[in-house]
Amino acid sequence: MAGIHRGWTPEVFEAAARTAGFELDASQSAAAARLVQLGHEIVRRRGLFGSAPRGVYVWGPVGRGKSWLTDTFYSAVPITGKRRMHFHEFFREFHTRYATHRHEKHAGDRAVRELLGDSRLVCFDEFHVHDPGDATIMARVVQSLLAQRITLVATSNYPPTGLLPNPLFHHLIEPLAATLQNSLDVVEVAGPRDYRRARRPGTPAAEFERGGYLWPGTDAQLARAGLAPPAPAERQRVRIGARAVTARAVRGDAVWFDFTDLCDGPYSTIDYLSLADRFRDWTLSGLPAPATTGRDAAQRFANLVDVLCDRDRRLYLVAAAPLTECLTGDHLPPDIRRTASRLALLPEIGAPVAVADQ
Ligand SMILES: Nc1ncnc2c1ncn2[C@@H]1O[C@H](COP(=O)(O)OP(=O)(O)O)[C@@H](O)[C@H]1O
Ligand SMILES: [Mg+2]
Repeated sequence: MAGIHRGWTPEVFEAAARTAGFELDASQSAAAARLVQLGHEIVRRRGLFGSAPRGVYVWGPVGRGKSWLTDTFYSAVPITGKRRMHFHEFFREFHTRYATHRHEKHAGDRAVRELLGDSRLVCFDEFHVHDPGDATIMARVVQSLLAQRITLVATSNYPPTGLLPNPLFHHLIEPLAATLQNSLDVVEVAGPRDYRRARRPGTPAAEFERGGYLWPGTDAQLARAGLAPPAPAERQRVRIGARAVTARAVRGDAVWFDFTDLCDGPYSTIDYLSLADRFRDWTLSGLPAPATTGRDAAQRFANLVDVLCDRDRRLYLVAAAPLTECLTGDHLPPDIRRTASRLALLPEIGAPVAVADQ
């Protein structure tokens, strides 16, 4: 038990920023101060039967450093009973275990215990709720976490009261929003800059290794990105549990889907997670111009991109128009801004202005 305070100093965030080559902005410094306090509380209460230190809900627009702050916090906090999970991932596992115990009295509590063991700190990146059916279960999950004296740290693009933005279902979120607001400190990180966008340099060709954004996707463009267009005979059905989705091609652990097949069908984030576990290289063609993209399909696309980023998959998008055009439109869901920010990292081969040939 010696040295339990070692490794937790108020300079954790400044030091990490220095190492990464940047400085915290004012909004980040305020959030960092709150997380420094939480780190102290967690270390101090180690092994004691006190109440759990009050967690923190960090929210704000994309690219403000929310994940960086919470990742830095998580890595530095010197306890062993900690878990960091992408929220989608947690929810998928929760569903599976909840289903197993669903006839028992405290199925939710049991699922949480099984998933988190004796963890005292859980960090969820990207706390979002879009499926009305999830809202009630999520309230139960969060209450169960709190009842088990687990400290929760979450990031989100939404304040608690803004979760489940669909006006038809928004009322369903009230119990969860109330629990989050009453039990966590809600901290907004909304500095003036989207650092993810700012970081985007004139991308070198080597970056096609990580994927790319191609429009309109001529054979020459595909060839530059190392993609061979699928032959009709390669078309096949790919199983997802008891169902299936049509792929244009499956080549080892590489898969090629059409936007319509994958995002305009009845597929959930859980389905995308199981596909992402199976395929490492992804090509999604036929990303439509915004006017023709339905809201639900766009939301599924946002979920898919979240999952692929989380799993660190390579993604080639073949689109009808430039990224800035495809993902803009008043009818598109707010999450599409996060998607745009993430996809802005992909090198783009476009029709009029191409990346210089090497
Ligand atoms: N103050 C800063 N200056 C420059 N880059 C930063 C700063 N804070 C964070 N970043 C970088 O910006 C990128 C986006 O941060 P991230 O935490 O993913 O944003 P968010 O989770 O809010 O969408 C990351 O690569 C991160 O390292
Ligand atoms: Mg983030």
